[in-house]
Amino acid sequence: MQNLEPYLFVEINKKIAQKRARGEEVISFAIGDPDMPTPEHIINRLCQAAQDPANHRYPETAGLPQLRQAIADWYQKRFGVSLDADSEVLPLIGSKEGIGHIALCFIDSGDIALVPDPAYPVYSVSTMLAGGQGYHMPLTADRNFLPDLDAIPPETVKKAKIIWLNYPNNPTSAVADLDFFNRVVNFARQHSLVVCHDAPYSEITFDGYQPVSFLQADGAREVGVEFHSLSKSYNMTGWRIGMVVGNAEMIDALRRIKSNLDSGVPQAIQYAAIEALSGPQDCIARHNNIYQRRRDLVIDLLNDIGLEAKPPKASPYIWARVPKGYTSIEFADDLLEQVGVVVIPGRGYGKYGEGYVRLSLTIPDAALVKGLSRLAGWHDSKNRFKAKR
Ligand SMILES: Cc1ncc(COP(=O)(O)O)c(C=O)c1O
Repeated sequence: MQNLEPYLFVEINKKIAQKRARGEEVISFAIGDPDMPTPEHIINRLCQAAQDPANHRYPETAGLPQLRQAIADWYQKRFGVSLDADSEVLPLIGSKEGIGHIALCFIDSGDIALVPDPAYPVYSVSTMLAGGQGYHMPLTADRNFLPDLDAIPPETVKKAKIIWLNYPNNPTSAVADLDFFNRVVNFARQHSLVVCHDAPYSEITFDGYQPVSFLQADGAREVGVEFHSLSKSYNMTGWRIGMVVGNAEMIDALRRIKSNLDSGVPQAIQYAAIEALSGPQDCIARHNNIYQRRRDLVIDLLNDIGLEAKPPKASPYIWARVPKGYTSIEFADDLLEQVGVVVIPGRGYGKYGEGYVRLSLTIPDAALVKGLSRLAGWHDSKNRFKAKR
């Protein structure tokens, strides 16, 4: 417990709650939790399934066969990847659950997991909880936020069991192509590593960009799995449903761990997930149009006030450089104190996140516009102050 810090967002939410309790209006660009509701046809299916007593009982850890098949069909349709629904697909109680538990399958005391930095914190934390240690692979702008596999010291690679990757990336919003994933497969084969690719943002895309799946790489399923989620694609964060697909032996190991620790996804939610994956998909384009409009507003304003940021091709995140003279924590604190706007300091995602802040586009339009006007006001007041000095 001494090594386990509170989850990043717990601290941020505490700060926001304190301000709101004092009657201050806070505008938050913090957590990546879609503000738009789950589409109606999915909710209707959930309500209908909730009425059926068969769904009031314990689910199976492996999930309903119909859900596993719907996931396999979705992978085929979306990425052209064919999966065996029984051995290569496992539903999860949100992908975070599987990401947390899979470390227990592969990490023993003293083992190393190669984790990106900056990154979603759960890869490192699950490694630590399993008794292992994370080796941080820097993701930097000069390499388009892709890790330099050749720069990992040989003695580290020897002790490593897992390599974690995440594209479209949180927090940097970078994307990876098939060429990169092919290189990862070769690297994993060469060093007997398990690849865990985390892809919950593959459906939040802009300007016609289509991310690839890790499983499209040659030989990918011999070495790894891909985590995915309905959370972000269908605005279903609150229902807790995700999946892991790929290498059958790895999936079997995780199923064994999970069956000893949890009892699977509530069945009404599984039926809602089947509806999401196999029902009408026009909601995705609708949500993406909204995110894209917000992205453009945020990018324009940030660049106007000197916070350099590139428009992402995918993901609901903007990764912006902090102004000169601030650390990311100082800058985020200053924005919160001066204008009641919350952004996440890049340092919260790791050492190499320093110098950046993350803004999420999952904020209703009216709040977003107000937040941007406060950021402009913050910039003007700093400049006035400077001019006076
Ligand atoms: C990179 C990444 N992976 C996984 C998750 C977890 O998603 P969920 O547990 O809702 O499927 C998140 C959530 O923000 C994330 O950013």
